[in-house]
Amino acid sequence: MNPAVRAVVRTARDKGMEVYGVNHGYRGLMEGDLHSMDLRDVSDIIQRGGTKLFSARAPEFKTEEGMQKAIDVCRKYGIEGIVVIGGDGSFRGARDLSLRGVPCVAIPGTIDNDIACCDYTIGYDTCMNTIVEMVDRIRDTTESHDRCSVVEVMGRSAGYLALYSGIAVGATSILIPEIPYDLDKDVIQVMEETMKTGKQHFVIVVAEGVGGVEDMARKIEEKTGVESRAVILGHVQRGGSPTARDRIVASLMGNRAVKLLMEGIGNRVVAMQKEQIVDFDIFEALQMKKSIDMEIFKVSAEISI
Ligand code: F6P
Repeated sequence: MNPAVRAVVRTARDKGMEVYGVNHGYRGLMEGDLHSMDLRDVSDIIQRGGTKLFSARAPEFKTEEGMQKAIDVCRKYGIEGIVVIGGDGSFRGARDLSLRGVPCVAIPGTIDNDIACCDYTIGYDTCMNTIVEMVDRIRDTTESHDRCSVVEVMGRSAGYLALYSGIAVGATSILIPEIPYDLDKDVIQVMEETMKTGKQHFVIVVAEGVGGVEDMARKIEEKTGVESRAVILGHVQRGGSPTARDRIVASLMGNRAVKLLMEGIGNRVVAMQKEQIVDFDIFEALQMKKSIDMEIFKVSAEISI
């Protein structure tokens, strides 16, 4: 998110606009927690994880009173447009504010890559690379001890992280919330088949939305005789210095968002499709559907044997 914040501030200042940073998202907007930002306020953040502007959940913002508080703050500071970074919930807030006369442009920021209008959301690549690095480390013990590691990665309701990181780490099985699974057929049998060809260690990648990795590891050990361990990667996946891809995409998106606002265009989502930066009406963006590519899921199984 920091490279996006930096690009927004730099682009807006370059065009002669005044910029405020709002701390803690919509919560800060309702509370009037904002401060003027200039070019040097975003120096040395392009390489930092997290967000200089902090983040928060803001249930009150969904209420009419909460929305009104935010609008009052915008009027008080003379705010004529807002760039919002986040997922679907943030987009809905941006749509509602736009409807009430505060033009907003949203940028997709979530490690889950589960925003329908976008092929790519900022944070995803950094998270994927962290998962790959962590699982490569886990694999060293898995391999030297002839074990099975059952690794839970984030993705409470979306399996993109698990599917693609699973391919990248050479997982024997990948379990994601979108596709029902059968432990015997999709994990145990696959392990047993590969054992016949000499395989002795295994990595199973499980999305958080599937869960139950401790139990799974116990059952795998019972049924296959392969010593098994569960590992939950947790919040290491949500931090760390952004990758080059994330920095570039976030920078381009931040720049586009400001240019849209400059033209007086609000209620838009900036997105990436087929490697191009594009933008959509927020209403349309929220109607779109995105689903797991079943062909890719099949490929992951074909190359895991
Ligand atoms: O929405 C992104 C996400 O990273 C999910 O994959 C994960 O389940 C969740 O956030 C974790 O959120 P929290 O830190 O609030 O538990």
